[in-house]
Parts: sequence; structure tokens; C-alpha cells
Amino acid sequence: MNYNLLKAQREFLEIPHEYSLDVAVYQGGFGSGKTFAGSLLGILLCMKFPGIRGLVGAQTYTLVRDTTLQTYFEHLENLNFQDGKDYDWSSSLQKLTFKNGSEILFRHFDEPNKLKSLNLGFVEIEEMSDIPFSTFKMLLGRMRQSVKKSWKNFTYRIFGHTNPEYQRGWVYKTFVEDYKPNYRLISAPTTENIYLPDGFCDELKKLYDEEYYRIFVLAQNGEYDKGLIIKDFTHENVQEIKYQQDMDLHITCDFNVDPMAWILAHRTEDKVFFFDELVIENTTTAKACDEFCSRYPSHKGKIIINGDASGDNRSCTSEFTNYVIIKKKLERFGYEDVEVRIKAFNPPIKNRIMAFNSKVRSADGEVRLFVDKKCDKLLYNIYNLRYKEGSSRIDLPSYHQIKQAKELKFMGHPMDAASYLVEFYWPISI
Ligand SMILES: Nc1ncnc2c1ncn2[C@@H]1O[C@H](COP(=O)(O)OP(=O)(O)OP(=O)(O)O)[C@@H](O)[C@H]1O
Ligand SMILES: [Mg+2]
Repeated sequence: MNYNLLKAQREFLEIPHEYSLDVAVYQGGFGSGKTFAGSLLGILLCMKFPGIRGLVGAQTYTLVRDTTLQTYFEHLENLNFQDGKDYDWSSSLQKLTFKNGSEILFRHFDEPNKLKSLNLGFVEIEEMSDIPFSTFKMLLGRMRQSVKKSWKNFTYRIFGHTNPEYQRGWVYKTFVEDYKPNYRLISAPTTENIYLPDGFCDELKKLYDEEYYRIFVLAQNGEYDKGLIIKDFTHENVQEIKYQQDMDLHITCDFNVDPMAWILAHRTEDKVFFFDELVIENTTTAKACDEFCSRYPSHKGKIIINGDASGDNRSCTSEFTNYVIIKKKLERFGYEDVEVRIKAFNPPIKNRIMAFNSKVRSADGEVRLFVDKKCDKLLYNIYNLRYKEGSSRIDLPSYHQIKQAKELKFMGHPMDAASYLVEFYWPISI
């Protein structure tokens, strides 16, 4: 059977560069041919590079089994490949082995540690924006199957597919913002899949509202700035900031346990420079101090601890308050000048947001708040924290949403931490 590929599918399959690694994402609307293209590519790689080892996965195993694996079988059938002759399927190992020695493992990414020992030639990721960035990075490190002599023009490949994201997530950041020539985003509207039944897209148009249709059918990114709590944050606010060991160093803290979020800053009379962050999962105040000390062991200037006022009286695990723990730990480590400066009580959130926004860009256009790229989670908050539609309440993820998309657990606390400091020094009274 001959296939005629859609334009986007051809672009996805062909590599336009000579780097040793190709990373491609097919960002398409519903039914735009994503799964079709991904599984075809997996099979073609197995044919072209005998002995290659591939991994196909999604965040949940159900998604792998019910869609991706099925499409592999459909392609195999269309190619007249027979189970037991041209390939073997082992359902106990969830592995497809071809007679030329190539093999594909089908896995979920829920426990990424289990995949740490693999050496792979390619990885296919179903619904890429659903997997955490940390899993993606781990998979990048698995691309190291040794290249066989017979493989001509071999390129390691990570390829995935996804719907466009509602929010500015790591896929957008990695493929659009931080442009690299071997990272490719191929955009595929559903309307361009000529193999869908007539009138399919018209039906969707009737069903969906305009924004949903634009994102999930026309494959355009969401309006990332709509409803954001931090306005007017631009590339001018993102700067490389050099840590200065003789200057005052501020640690501004939010004491949530998972994650704990401390943002580090320098400050002048009217400007603030966030140069690093400690956003640590499942930790304690004492452990976060250890991390700080290991990163900045020879700080000479003063250390000023700012942050959540309720952190001073809420500690239930120790007779010490969080601030006393930090001060004592840092002094024991050898820092000489450590001071705690917090408010007697926390201001309303909207005051903190106003104070933060006016430093981001004041009404007269001055930029006085700068963030280094190292503050990955703070930037994630700035780009994504929104108001609930039609309200002035911040839209924080629910426990259920966090379970579905782990990145969401970093939403809220880093912004809280950073804004405590800004509001402390430059309050706005309303
Ligand atoms: N090049 C092609 N030739 C023939 N049929 C195709 C081709 N590309 C896609 N199709 C068909 O179009 C339909 C939608 O494709 P597919 O399931 O790959 O889309 P998808 O983007 O993964 O959809 P979803 O959003 O539901 O995951 C399927 O029936 C598939 O077989
Ligand atoms: Mg699909």
C-alpha cells in the first residue's frame, strides 16, 4: 500500500540539517495526522537502521496502548508485515521486535526513573506537552545507543506530537523561544488533513467556541498573555545577572513544603535583580539552607531573609520558627551577617501583585525588575499565572490538575516568594 503524506507529515519525517540529534514536534489539531506520522516514522527507522532500539511512550500507558500501539499495528498490516514472520509482538514485554533485530519498547513515563538504564536510537513521545520537562531532559540523555557501521547517515531522533498548549509551557519555550536549528516545531491544522471525512472540521466549528477552535483545530498557540497577573513582562526584564559576593543578598521565602520556593536577589534603591532560585520538592527549611550554602559558600556581604510573614509562627515541626532555623543554620555555617526582615503580617495578594507589576514596568515605562534565566520556575509563574476567567482571583491548579500535569505544582509559590520581597521594599498603598 502506498501512502501519500500530508505536507506537515513529510516535513516531520525529513531532517533538514546535519546535527547528530534531531528533535521534532508535530503540533497539530485534533485528527491532523499526528499519531499516523509518528508511528510511521518509528517503523521506517526500524527498517532503515537494523538493530536500532526505540522507545515509544506517553505519560499514561492507556494512551500508548489504545492509540499509538494500535496505529503501529495498522501500519504493519498495511505494509503486509506478519506477526511471527516479519516481526514479533511480545505483550508481556510490551516490545515489538523486527526480524532485522530492530526493536521498539512501549512504555508510560509515569515513573521515569525506570527508564534510566536504556540506551536508545530514537524516542517517540505521544502528547508531548503532557510530560514534564524533566522527563524530556532525561530522555535526551538516553540517546546513546552505539551507532552500527552499517547505518548510513544516522541521526538520533526524538519526535513527538502534541496539541498546541493553552498555556505557555516547556514545549513553546523549547521549540519557539529558545530557537535551536535541530529543534523543529511543525504546525499542522486539522483542516489540512484531506483524509478526514467530508465536513469533519465544519462540525467541529459548530461545536467549539472560537478560542478552542483556533487552538485545537487550527493548531495556533493560545493567547498566552490573556488574563496574566503579571502584565508587560518582556525580554527587557530577562537579563543575565551576575551574583555579587560582596553585595547584600536577599533570600525571599515561601515555606510550602512541596515545593519550597526561595528566590535569591540583589537590590539597589529602586531596582531588584532576581539571580537564582531554590525551588525544591518535598523538603525542609533546614535542607533548603544546605542547598543555599552549597551554592553560595563564600558569600561576604550581608544576607537578608525576607518572605512570608506567616512563616514566622506556623512551624509545627519544630520549636523554632522557619526564620530562626534559617538564621541559625546560616550563622552556624559561617555567614557573619544574617538578618531577618519581614512584615508583621502578610499584605493582601493584590497589593503584592501591584507592587511587582509596577517594578516590571512602571506607568512611565521604566523597567526596574530583572530576572535571570536561572530562575526557571519564577519565569514559569510570570508567564503563566492567570486570574480565573471573569474574576480577580488567581487561578491556582487543583490537586487533581497537578496529578495530571506535574509542572503545575510549581505554579504559585515561586511568585509568592518573589513578590513578598518587592512588596516589603516598595509597597503600594491602595
Ligand atoms: N497520510 C495519510 N494517509 C492516509 N490517512 C491518513 C494520513 N494521515 C492521517 N491519516 C488518517 O487521518 C485520521 C487522523 O489521523 P491521526 O489519528 O494520526 O490524527 P491525530 O492528529 O493523531 O488525531 P488525535 O488528535 O485524535 O490524536 C486517521 O484516520 C488516519 O489514518
Ligand atoms: Mg493521535
